[in-house]
Formats: sequence, C-alpha cells, structure tokens
Amino acid sequence: MNSQAPRYFALIPAAGVGARMAASGPKQYLKIGGKPMLRHAIDAFLFSDLIAHTYVVVSADDPFIDSVVPSHGVTVLRCGGATRMESVRNGLAALGGTLRDNDWVLVHDAARPGIDDALIEKLITSTGEHPVGGLLALPVVDTVKRSIAGEVGTVSREGMWLAQTPQMFRYRLLRDALAAASDSARDPRQVTDDASAVEALGLSPKLVEGHPRNMKVTMPGDVRLAEMYLATAQPELL
Ligand code: CTP
Ligand code: MG
Repeated sequence: MNSQAPRYFALIPAAGVGARMAASGPKQYLKIGGKPMLRHAIDAFLFSDLIAHTYVVVSADDPFIDSVVPSHGVTVLRCGGATRMESVRNGLAALGGTLRDNDWVLVHDAARPGIDDALIEKLITSTGEHPVGGLLALPVVDTVKRSIAGEVGTVSREGMWLAQTPQMFRYRLLRDALAAASDSARDPRQVTDDASAVEALGLSPKLVEGHPRNMKVTMPGDVRLAEMYLATAQPELL
C-alpha cells in the first residue's frame, strides 16, 4: 500500500463551558447513561477500525480530562480557545508535524455522545474521495419560521439540512479555511462548524444523512433524550 495514502484522524473539540446547559461544570463531563459524555464520543472513534488516532482538545487548565481519557489510543491537546473554531484551529496547528496535508480529519463535537462506528463508517465511505469533504446532517422535516424584530416569516425547507458532526476535510484545506475565516471581517462567532469555513471559500461539501441519535446535547432536557437514544440498539443505517 502507498505509504502516503491518506489516513483518517478524529479531532474532538472539548473546550467549551456549556453555558446553555447551565450545569455546575462543563457539559462534556456530565454522565450520560453512567459514562461521561466525552467518553462516549472517544469510545466510538476508538472502536472504529478506520480511525488512525484520536485527538481531544481541552482547555489548558481542564482538571477533569485525565480521569476521563483512556490510557491508550487518545492524545489530549491542552490548547482550547475561546470559541469552537479557535479550539479546532489550535488543535490542527498542534498536529502540524504529525498529519500530512492530504490526511482526512473528522472533527466531532464532544457534545454528541450518540456517534457510533456505523455512522463514522457511513460518513467516510459516502464522502469517499470527494474533492471538498463531507459532513453528517439531517434533512429538515419541520416548517421553518424566521423571526426578526417581531416580524415572522416562513422559510422554505426545500434543500434545508441541520448540520451534525463528524465533519471531515483534508488537513490542509481545513487549516486554510479556518485561518481565512478567522482573518475575515465576518464575526468569527458565526463560524459554528467547520464546514461553514470551507463553504466561505466557495466550496461545497457533501451532505451525508446522519441520524437523530447523533443529536447535540445543548440544553438541560437533552441529557435524558440522549440517554434514551443510547439505551437503544444501534440504528439500521440506510
Ligand atoms: N467547544 C470548544 N471550545 C470552545 C467552545 C466549544 O472546544 N471554546 C466545543 C464544545 O466543548 C463542544 C463543541 O465545541 O464539544 C460544540 O459546542 P457547543 O455545543 O456550543 O458547546 P459549548 O460551547 O460548551 O456550549 P454553550 O455554547 O452552551 O456554551
Ligand atoms: Mg458553544
């Protein structure tokens, strides 16, 4: 096999504070079905034969990570930033000597404990050698309303998807896209996922249908919902 064949790496940003969860600590350490949320995500990537190595980005002063991370197969990068985008950027920069430009990076939120090896494989095989990359997403099924300053309108759901993670891009493309997004005049807080930085370069990633179990745990009520999904067997993937 060509030694320069692209490899697949997981990068899990886990440096958020979980403000909307309003728990006593960062939400990625809340237990879901008896196991810390972050550990669910880590275990899914460890279980996947396709992933060469898994990296987790936490804050420099994170006191919890050492008790959550397994002793093998995962590397902790203590370089989290003030936003998700910064955390991902810093993590990618730390891997400069390790990853090659054409390696794939699967960026996955620590706050999505419902990821599993089947969804990881589906994303990788469906994205294939797509020139841009791909991400898991769900087609919008509800009628969509937009309310701005009291004015309410209906937005067509035609072609609308809700982005999930993992989002997979080549290492070099993702680094360049995030650098450009941070340098641009746009508010960097608007870049809430990796794909939007790539799209801002005029590129279109592939949308691969994910699964509701891969929901993002954001509000307090989401914890029970995530536990319900995790208590059920792996879904049949279409
Ligand atoms: N994240 C990160 N660094 C930040 C902010 C977020 O690594 N400065 C990570 C979170 O830990 C999470 C993922 O990005 O795994 C998605 O972010 P989100 O769900 O918004 O988590 P938080 O930012 O922690 O939550 P909130 O926005 O409610 O504060
Ligand atoms: Mg956030």
